[in-house]
Amino acid sequence: WKRRSSVIPLVIDTDTAQDDCVALLVGLLDPAADLVGITMVAGNVGFDQQVKNAQITLAVAGRSGEVPIYLGCRRPLVREWVSAENVHGDGSGGLSMDEEGLEVSAEHGVDALIRLAAENPGTLRIVAIGPLTNIATALVKDPDFVANVGELYIMGGSNNGRGNITAAAEYNFYVDPEAAKAVFAAGFDITVIPWDQLTLRDAVFSREQLAEIAAIGTPLSSFFTRMVDATLAFDESVGIPGSTHPDSLTAAVLLHPELVTAHARYAVDIETGSDLTRGYSAMSWGVHELEPNARVIESVDAAGFFALIRDVLSHSMTPSRSISGL
Ligand code: BDR
Ligand code: CA
Repeated sequence: WKRRSSVIPLVIDTDTAQDDCVALLVGLLDPAADLVGITMVAGNVGFDQQVKNAQITLAVAGRSGEVPIYLGCRRPLVREWVSAENVHGDGSGGLSMDEEGLEVSAEHGVDALIRLAAENPGTLRIVAIGPLTNIATALVKDPDFVANVGELYIMGGSNNGRGNITAAAEYNFYVDPEAAKAVFAAGFDITVIPWDQLTLRDAVFSREQLAEIAAIGTPLSSFFTRMVDATLAFDESVGIPGSTHPDSLTAAVLLHPELVTAHARYAVDIETGSDLTRGYSAMSWGVHELEPNARVIESVDAAGFFALIRDVLSHSMTPSRSISGL
């Protein structure tokens, strides 16, 4: 992959909490990105709290009201919602903000995805960092959606490795396995950023690195530090030596493909029939006579990724409004 030469129009489809917020900051502040919309999907924490977290993130980045937030599906396709509040708390480190005058778009998130892809055929990139409910619904609703989407970057699954919500499954695919299965079967140009081994090896920030970020001293770095605390405690309690950043890595890899040090084509499918392995991602590496349907990122330049996040958090813009607790 080569360095990208132009600004990339993208939508971030998110269950906004913690690292989703960091991914939004990458989309908002990296000069390689033109973030045209944020679509909300049921996932990490309560839906309305996720919207609050997205509004706080826009405010900290000094961009309140500038990027539309579209509310998408409030529950998975066929299953009950499963929260990850035990991992993320409220998802924005207990911060709060007066939201007076801040609005969300009247257009549904699924319709926004369909429209934005149709308006930018072949060039819109979608960074999907929550359960895939909105993406699956869009492809069912509009037969042209798959062809209109330029590339779909998905955070989810594990590449023949450990899950996180169960031994077998990573959270995003576990929450809506039917959606994930439909998306991988649909014919998108897909890139996958998995949990294991990629995130666990290349996107964990150690306490030393987190201290380096805290020392930056911008409102953005304070926001990051507040937000990461809850996840850090959880991650350390399960033996991970730092905070995990799969969602911001997904945005970073789209914008800066030169970070990728190994990738390969795989045939990816998702388990929907079993209780034990619900949401398991079978990633076949080319020896099982299956047609590949996705590029899976196998390793990235971890130091380069950390440097990118540190640079994003070093921007010193003034927040759009005051955020209590920051
Ligand atoms: C994924 O689940 C969520 O908790 C994170 O935001 C990330 O998208 C990791 O399994
Ligand atoms: Ca997420």
